[in-house]
Amino acid sequence: MKVFVLFSSPNKNGYTKKLLDGFFVSAPENLSVDTVNLFDLLPKPCNDCKACGKENTCVFDDLDEVFDKMQNADVVIIATPVYHYNVPAPLKAVFDRTQRFYEAYVVRKEEPKRKNDGRGVLLTVSGRKAKQPVELIKKQTDRAFALLGINLAGSVHMGETDKGISDSEAIRQAEELGKKIFSK
Ligand SMILES: Cc1cc2nc3c(=O)[nH]c(=O)nc-3n(C[C@H](O)[C@H](O)[C@H](O)COP(=O)(O)O)c2cc1C
Repeated sequence: MKVFVLFSSPNKNGYTKKLLDGFFVSAPENLSVDTVNLFDLLPKPCNDCKACGKENTCVFDDLDEVFDKMQNADVVIIATPVYHYNVPAPLKAVFDRTQRFYEAYVVRKEEPKRKNDGRGVLLTVSGRKAKQPVELIKKQTDRAFALLGINLAGSVHMGETDKGISDSEAIRQAEELGKKIFSK
């Protein structure tokens, strides 16, 4: 099983990482896990140059590898905090740049690279409860995943990190979700 993680917090050991660690508690030892740290990569934002309106390409190549890995991994995990009712800018750039796949697969009806056989996971954390932002992020993730042939198989949210403690119930849910994903 190949697992690809899009990690979208600038804090390498913050709450997002704690939730992600929970997810991996029951991972098999030989699991192949590849992670991209989006705050290191800082992908360029879509500039609506319209190049992808003609063919499945992008004027920027900084996400080529990320999109390849998203289309080849068995499990794709997005782990992100809520920023300003949304996702942090680097992850928003990834979402916006899936527009090339919308143009290719939805508008021009080209053959998608993968046949909807990927499994996706969304892990979110927020300072407050952030019910609405989390719903929005789920929709954004669902759309980006769908364009890449990935089905959102499960999600876990850890809220109220402003209180300064990790929500152990959310970590337990992440462990459960990991167990479910790794058992199939
Ligand atoms: C720029 C910025 C914007 C934020 N916006 C929100 C927000 O809209 N709602 C919320 O509940 N928390 C918000 N937060 C709080 C983070 O989601 C929270 O601190 C989270 O635990 C950070 O995760 P990390 O420890 O993995 O970096 C924001 C934090 C930052 C730095």
